[in-house]
Amino acid sequence: MESRDDAGAEREGAAPAPESSGAASPAAEPTTGPASGETPAVAGPPDSPDTTRRVDTAEAARGDAAQPRHAAFDPRAGAAPTGRVPGPPPGPAPADRAPVSGRFTTPGRGAGAPSNGVPNTYDLSSAQLLRPSKRPPQTGWRRALFVGSGGLVNPGESVGDAARRELIARVNQPLHGCYKIAMLSLKGGVGKTTMTTTLGSTFASLRGDRVIAVDANPDRGTLSQKIPLETTATVRHLLRDANRVRRYSDVRAYTSQGPSRLEILASEQDPAVSEAFSEVDYRRTVTLLEHFYNVVLTDCGTGLMHSAMKGVLDVADSLLIVSSASIDGARSASATLDWLDAHGYRDLVSRSVAVINYVRRSSGNVDLDRVSDHFAARCRAVVRLPFDPHLEEGAEIELDKLASRTRAALLELAATVADDFGRAGSRVRRPVLPR
Ligand SMILES: Nc1ncnc2c1ncn2[C@@H]1O[C@H](COP(=O)(O)OP(=O)(O)OP(=O)(O)O)[C@@H](O)[C@H]1O
Ligand SMILES: [Mg+2]
Repeated sequence: MESRDDAGAEREGAAPAPESSGAASPAAEPTTGPASGETPAVAGPPDSPDTTRRVDTAEAARGDAAQPRHAAFDPRAGAAPTGRVPGPPPGPAPADRAPVSGRFTTPGRGAGAPSNGVPNTYDLSSAQLLRPSKRPPQTGWRRALFVGSGGLVNPGESVGDAARRELIARVNQPLHGCYKIAMLSLKGGVGKTTMTTTLGSTFASLRGDRVIAVDANPDRGTLSQKIPLETTATVRHLLRDANRVRRYSDVRAYTSQGPSRLEILASEQDPAVSEAFSEVDYRRTVTLLEHFYNVVLTDCGTGLMHSAMKGVLDVADSLLIVSSASIDGARSASATLDWLDAHGYRDLVSRSVAVINYVRRSSGNVDLDRVSDHFAARCRAVVRLPFDPHLEEGAEIELDKLASRTRAALLELAATVADDFGRAGSRVRRPVLPR
């Protein structure tokens, strides 16, 4: 089976959606890409924590472990350089060792600046050879000046641009396996579907991998109304044809893709059918999707007791607890956390992010700082999403049409969620309790 890591290779070549029902038709077979001829075997997660450990061990065996190139291995994760890299091997460094590939150092000379302050003429690393240059500004008068002068005057990037670049780097943190996040709230109309679409679109537009949102709302979910529909296929069709799905292009025939590249897997629109979407159905769906997608977002209904919910909670790496910016919204979100705590999901709650969503223009006299404090004490982080006229329309959502402060809040939310990506790979899965 094709792996998620081929996303970049096949993205442009994604198969067009079928016109109607979702049968995996021959037309859905890919004409290009590395996937042709693959075996249908279901692969496990592509990476495991052991992979990194093996690399370190091998380097230690070569005696390279002390080389500071690990510092650049994953600067955004911020853990590897200090946590896993052992110190220099005991004993004197072998003076006759060949230079480490790519570092261009001379035996006996360190790679960095020498302690006497004289430039190290033997060091051909990029940091030594490239003249420091300011990044081109991205916004405001700085950008205007830069562009207007034909690039001759570069005032450098603003604090805001630098902060945004930092957030984007966090959103792009490496992700091993498939990260599953569910939007939850006991109260209806607080913005779960809106959050699913906007957060998913933010990830999809900034990351190179594949992102999908699944509608698990038993009551005629509205997720599929948030992007232009390319297919009438639903999760029910995908499950029906699951054993014929081999490649990404097969599963793509059942999804619709928005301008951000976010894909959506719709639910049945007949409540009598969607009500019957069970825990087993949800697990089968996610098991299938995690072979092709790196981030799976699930838009839930309001009920915590509906049939698919146990599956949603058991497989989720994290939750987004959505509250409106009102007292009843905050109480419902808090009650959601109480219920989760009481039903064995305390760990999941502590990994979750609370979102205070301004579904109305004003929050009246509600002290939202205190509401934030309440959720901050129970969840990993709290983010506020401002009121946005484009979101208020309740139609298809395009990131480009959002106000800049809404986009900034979404970027912060995506970065906050992505901060958990590193831990998800090494997380021990919650045992599945008997029903
Ligand atoms: N940040 C926002 N700014 C303006 N309007 C918003 C915002 N978020 C949500 N809305 C409005 O609130 C409505 C309800 O949002 P949404 O459908 O996402 O809620 P929900 O929690 O999924 O509801 P349900 O429980 O019925 O599934 C949207 O149609 C939109 O009009
Ligand atoms: Mg909804």
